[in-house]
Amino acid sequence: MTDTLEPAAYADPAARPLGARPALPIYYDATAGVHIVSGFTECSEILRSEGWSSDPRNNPLLPPESQLLTTSSVLFMDPPDHTRLRRLIAPAFTPRRLQPLRSRIEGIVDQALAQLGDGSDLVSELSHLVPVAVIAELLDVGADGAEMLMAQTPRLVRILEVDATAEDLSEAASASLEVTMFLTPLLAQRRQQPGEDFISFLLSQEELTLTEVLATVITLLTAGHETTAALIASGAYALIQQRGQIPALLNDPSRAIDELLRHQPPVKLLARVAMADHQIGNHLVAQGDVALLLVDTANRDPDRFERPDELDLARDPVPSLVFGAGVHFCLGAGLARMEAEVTLSRLFTQHPDVAVEAESTVRWRPSSTFHTLDLLRITGLSGPSSVS
Ligand code: HEM
Repeated sequence: MTDTLEPAAYADPAARPLGARPALPIYYDATAGVHIVSGFTECSEILRSEGWSSDPRNNPLLPPESQLLTTSSVLFMDPPDHTRLRRLIAPAFTPRRLQPLRSRIEGIVDQALAQLGDGSDLVSELSHLVPVAVIAELLDVGADGAEMLMAQTPRLVRILEVDATAEDLSEAASASLEVTMFLTPLLAQRRQQPGEDFISFLLSQEELTLTEVLATVITLLTAGHETTAALIASGAYALIQQRGQIPALLNDPSRAIDELLRHQPPVKLLARVAMADHQIGNHLVAQGDVALLLVDTANRDPDRFERPDELDLARDPVPSLVFGAGVHFCLGAGLARMEAEVTLSRLFTQHPDVAVEAESTVRWRPSSTFHTLDLLRITGLSGPSSVS
């Protein structure tokens, strides 16, 4: 373990292995110009208290272009604007609204599993397919829509990198434009003929402006697709490497997914800007300073989790920070858990001998913010699936 992180370490996943722990739970890295926070208590306090901003306009480290892209998105707003928007969109994510999706998710997963064969890439042929198909179903945008979402979200998601460059932002801007062009006529049509879908629900909230409806749909794509895909692929890979854990997954998928999330978190970092001076223990974060919260490390804090580096799917659940905490707590947590539960338990039931083709066909994505695979070729699949 390192006692301080090298200046660029937080931006280089190879230099900062998942969960790597600095000596101090919070310290100021003068070269990077940020406070690095890795203790569970310290991260939790920042996420749950007032006086911290998620708004890129307050973040001196981001290129100014980011402001153009992030307006009206719940993720990047502060109270009271955030409180108002979140109140209007949160009812779309209640368990009662999501429960009917479970059987659709099962259908989507079985269809994807039936297409897999030896040499398939689990990342593109399963882990991305499922969340895209589910979001396409939520939005009711059909096969064309799903195809468009699949193409645009990898570009869109670059806005979420905490160290997004001007190039990332320009890619994200052009993807956002493509999605907006696709959605604008659809919105007009849904206003005329509302359905049961998420877009119709948002349009029925009279207080929401059209810009907010569009921004919310785009936020759903950026926040919901890559993260869930990351969980499915990293979770499958972790279980292939530790096969002894598979029975615990099949026995209690819900508990198992929480542990997989803690151990293999899709989101490694969150950023906040101090809007006032904050004293955290004996460390001062001055107004205007940026704090980078290493949530992957916080989720392996030995003061909170026993045997923190061990993957133990049967462990008693202790809430982690994998979906954030406080006012920005993930709205899609229930949906993501459901998708991962269904996908991973069906994968290992239908293909109990699934294995990695070769370590050379496993590739992690270089990313400061996401812990995610770009490639995972698999083998050992059972013959043609009996499920059509
Ligand atoms: C395993 C999958 C997922 C992970 C790990 C994850 C993680 C997170 C985290 C850490 C935050 C808080 C960000 C912050 O505090 O700055 C967040 C917020 C959010 N997530 Fe997720 N997420 C996942 C899936 C989803 C899905 C499937 C959806 C919707 C379809 C979704 C929608 C959102 C939204 C709308 C927010 C913003 C909430 C707010 O700002 O009030 N997420 N997510």
